[in-house]
Amino acid sequence: DTMSRLIIVSNRLPVSLDAQPDGSYALRQNVGGLATAIGPYHSSHHDCLWVGWSGEDPADHTPEEIEAIRSTYEENRCIPLFLSAEQVAGFYAGFSNNTLWPLMHDFSHEAVFDPGTWETYSHVNQLFADALAPLIRKGDTVWVQDYHLMLLPNILRQRFNNISIGWFLHVPFPSPEIFRSLPQSREILKGVLGADLLGFHTVDFVENFKSCVQQLLDIETDDAGHIAVDGGHTATVDAFPIGIDYNLYRRTTRSSLARAMRRGIEEQSGKRPGRHHDTSLSAESSAAAEAATKSGSWWSHHVHEELPELTLAQSAMFGKDSKPNKVVVSVDRLDYTKGLPERLRAFERLLEKYPEWIGHVTYYLLATPSRGDVETYQRLKQQVDQLVGKINGRFSMLAWTPIHYITRSLPIKPVCGIYAAGDVALVTPLRDGMNLVAKEYLACHDGRDGALVLSDMCGAAEELGEAFIVNPYDIEMTCEALHDALEISPEESTRRNRAMQARIKARTAGTWCAGFLDALLQVSNPGLDDK
Ligand code: G6P
Repeated sequence: DTMSRLIIVSNRLPVSLDAQPDGSYALRQNVGGLATAIGPYHSSHHDCLWVGWSGEDPADHTPEEIEAIRSTYEENRCIPLFLSAEQVAGFYAGFSNNTLWPLMHDFSHEAVFDPGTWETYSHVNQLFADALAPLIRKGDTVWVQDYHLMLLPNILRQRFNNISIGWFLHVPFPSPEIFRSLPQSREILKGVLGADLLGFHTVDFVENFKSCVQQLLDIETDDAGHIAVDGGHTATVDAFPIGIDYNLYRRTTRSSLARAMRRGIEEQSGKRPGRHHDTSLSAESSAAAEAATKSGSWWSHHVHEELPELTLAQSAMFGKDSKPNKVVVSVDRLDYTKGLPERLRAFERLLEKYPEWIGHVTYYLLATPSRGDVETYQRLKQQVDQLVGKINGRFSMLAWTPIHYITRSLPIKPVCGIYAAGDVALVTPLRDGMNLVAKEYLACHDGRDGALVLSDMCGAAEELGEAFIVNPYDIEMTCEALHDALEISPEESTRRNRAMQARIKARTAGTWCAGFLDALLQVSNPGLDDK
């Protein structure tokens, strides 16, 4: 069979498996930009294979279970690789997430340089090539993803000379001042230069990469982005800003589960009257609230008189001249690049500086735990837990809690419900390759109002200039932007959102995939001889 196919290779497959009581496995969509963006392409292209780590330690499973895992993945055109706990520690937690991840995000002070994890990283990149070997057919396109597999493009070039090789980086690429501190910087550059086409999210990242190649390998890039590598191979570099499946998010927002989630949040936050405020401790309307406070109810006798400050929010929320109640949302992996502590401080500052928001703004913070085996992430989790506790302790009233903090992974439907409930989305990473959450929020507000507060430190800021742009390190600035975003008129917010929505609707995950693959086809010229 000489039909050419696309084989995607990444560390993480687009889905994970959850063991069911009956011994079968259920699929769960993985989070993170890579899986969200390429997942839909893979599921809708029936000849497309995806090779990646199974996420399972073979030592934890019987051979029968391994077979069941393998076949469930394969039924979904995913080819799983099984790595030992030691390999995962060196390759994934170690070199990928304790060395490359912080360096790529300009967090050099968090980067750990360990020759042992580098060795495992190289070895596991070889294992990926071994897993690909039986699958690869003449003329195939192999599209390698991200910082976990930076040696793989050149390994593939040495082993197969009749395929097209693409590589895309889903995170930022740092300046040479930072990148050259990596002891293996040259090997890493040579590794990715094995690809025919190298893609980055932004022109800035492309420029950083070219400077690194120039300074560390002494190779110039021409105006067309061509890099002539030793041995007659030419690699091409370019920017391909990734998008989202806009209609998927728009559609999912209308699903009954998303609507139920949205309604629940709106009731709980007092945006709309509902069951949460129907009890004797609260009231639906200002009249009822007043009556309740004046009457000889349990509430006024036992709580109101002794703890008047705890009831303030209660009457404020439903009082006559109250501010409208608002909801702020954010959705992130619990990662130190996402700027969660800074963002929480900005939210705390809002309540401090503009106390009229006390009782009127509720923040739904969805932070999905990530990379728990890496110490930096454990420290961050503690820090965020503490800050949320501190802010809630400082401002909570009986009927109002400023921050609702969820540290689980939620499926797309409730996530769309959270987005839809948000009057404001706070998307303030300290550094981010693209950030798809900003785009997903806007898609879930298609045809509606809603305001985006966005960091200028992420790729998405280049395309979303109508957002409230902030420096995420600047707590005062973020607090002011949040305040402005909460006060925005529906007309103004619709005007801003329309412009951004038109742009992200036109540049989706699908057009991104197609654009990269077209460009790869243009630059690669697969030979016909087998090696
Ligand atoms: C980022 C990376 C992806 C990664 C995702 C989730 O988006 O670019 O490669 O899959 O984070 O992180 P995890 O370590 O859980 O795969």
